Amino acid sequence: MIKLRKATLGDRKKAYQWLYYSDFSDFLNKLQGHTSGNIPSYKDFKKDYMDYFFDGSQLEDGCCFIITCKKEGITEDLGIISYTSFHLLDKITEFDIWLKGLSYTGHGYGTKAILVLAGMVRGFGYDKVIMRPSKHNKVAIKSYKKVGFMEKELMPCEYYKTDFIDEFAQGDYGPGEDVFMVLDL
Ligand SMILES: CC(C)(COP(=O)(O)OP(=O)(O)OC[C@H]1O[C@@H](n2cnc3c(N)ncnc32)[C@H](O)[C@@H]1OP(=O)(O)O)[C@@H](O)C(=O)NCCC(=O)NCCS
Repeated sequence: MIKLRKATLGDRKKAYQWLYYSDFSDFLNKLQGHTSGNIPSYKDFKKDYMDYFFDGSQLEDGCCFIITCKKEGITEDLGIISYTSFHLLDKITEFDIWLKGLSYTGHGYGTKAILVLAGMVRGFGYDKVIMRPSKHNKVAIKSYKKVGFMEKELMPCEYYKTDFIDEFAQGDYGPGEDVFMVLDL
C-alpha cells in the first residue's frame, strides 16, 4: 500500500543520496553528463530543491513528498516525488520522481506514487502535468505511459512562463535527448 507523506527538511539529504549515490545513479548520472568526478554536490542539490520543497512554505511553487509503504506494521520510505510549478504557466505542473534503489523499481511503486500525486494536484486545481525523462530511460517512459502520460511535441510557449523558457525549455539532458510527456488531468 503506497502512501505519500509531506517531506521534511530532514528528508532532503536522503533524497540527494538516493538520486546521486544509489545503484541506479550511474545510469542517471551518465544520462545527465555527470562523471564520477563531477557529481552535483549537496549544495548544488539544495539550489534546485530549496527549503520550500521540504517545509511546505510555497505550495504554489512546488512541494516534495516521500513515497512510503507499510508492511507488517512497519512503514518504509521508498523514494521521493515532487511537483514544481514556479516556471510553468497557470494550471500546469511538472513531476519528478526517483525511488531509493534499483531493487525498489519494477514493483509499480513509482507508477502508483505518480497516480496518487496526480490525484492530489488535480484537487489543487491543476489541469496538466508534464514530465521529461531521458529518451534512454525506458523504464521511466513505460511507467509514465501506464499512468496516462502521452508523448507530445514541445511548444515551450504553451507550457513555460516566458521568463523561464531559455533556462528550462531544453530539458535536463540537452536538446533532443528527452521525451516530452503530458498528462491531462
Ligand atoms: C522511473 C520509476 C519512478 C518508475 O517507477 P517503477 O515503480 O519502477 O515503475 P513500474 O514498476 O511500474 O515499472 C515500469 C515498467 O518498467 C519495467 N521495469 C521497471 N524496473 C525495471 C528494471 N529494473 N529492469 C527492467 N525493467 C524494469 C517494468 O517491467 C514496467 O513495465 P511493465 O508494467 O510492462 O512490466 C522508477 O523505476 C525509478 O525511480 N527509477 C530510477 C530513477 C529514475 O529513472 N527516475 C526518473 C527520472 S525521469
